[in-house]
Amino acid sequence: MRKQIVAGNWKMNNDLVQTEALLINLKKQIQTSSAEVMVAPAFTNLYHAFESLKGLNIEVIAQNMHYAENGAFTGEISAGMLKSIGVNTVILGHSERREYFNETDEALAKKVDTALDHDMRIIFCFGEELADRKSGNEEMVVASQIKNALFHLPGWKFKDIILAYEPVWAIGTGETATPEQAQDMHAFIRKTLANQFGYDIANRVSILYGGSCKPSNAKELFTKPDVDGGLIGGASLNAEDFFAIVNAF
Ligand code: 13P
Repeated sequence: MRKQIVAGNWKMNNDLVQTEALLINLKKQIQTSSAEVMVAPAFTNLYHAFESLKGLNIEVIAQNMHYAENGAFTGEISAGMLKSIGVNTVILGHSERREYFNETDEALAKKVDTALDHDMRIIFCFGEELADRKSGNEEMVVASQIKNALFHLPGWKFKDIILAYEPVWAIGTGETATPEQAQDMHAFIRKTLANQFGYDIANRVSILYGGSCKPSNAKELFTKPDVDGGLIGGASLNAEDFFAIVNAF
């Protein structure tokens, strides 16, 4: 069976004091769940979060990393640095990184390789913009994002890859893809993977939905057969809401 996963992407929110408060609230909410639970604090709070959640069923993950091993890349963080503080999973390709920091498919393919070389798991994000959906090009856009960054890999490496479909028009807008829209796209994504790597591999890859996922719509989304969980932005900043989403499984 595929892993069910709910991951909170805290983005550029929460200083150390606010992070500490959110961690305390998360610990109060922890329950056994069939889903794997992850949170992605900002880099400055990663180590503190890791120490604070040690031994609990919440994995601390990173929001980004550079593809180089080390060197003259002012302001960047390497895979080795993340691993050295206990972080084993990284989000790559978020639409905000693509839009505001000019991350290209080509750079993302390199980040993917580096993360896998370091035995890290990846939550690889992609998704179409509103104009793509309006012109009926959403499948073409999504397929090319996946192919350009991931299709150079041998199939077995997908054991460490989690996909996150995040339609840009649904991120932080309050507008969620309908469960049917999410299911249709997730099924398409799985078929795209299967065409390249076979159904054995495609059926084992968890595909998360992200974009205004909240307690009120999580259950409907998660009951769809190809929706294996969520990547949560805004609602993950509130421990009660976040665990309401985790418990939607
Ligand atoms: P929101 O849940 O705030 O729409 O953000 C989704 C997201 O970008 C998660 O990575």
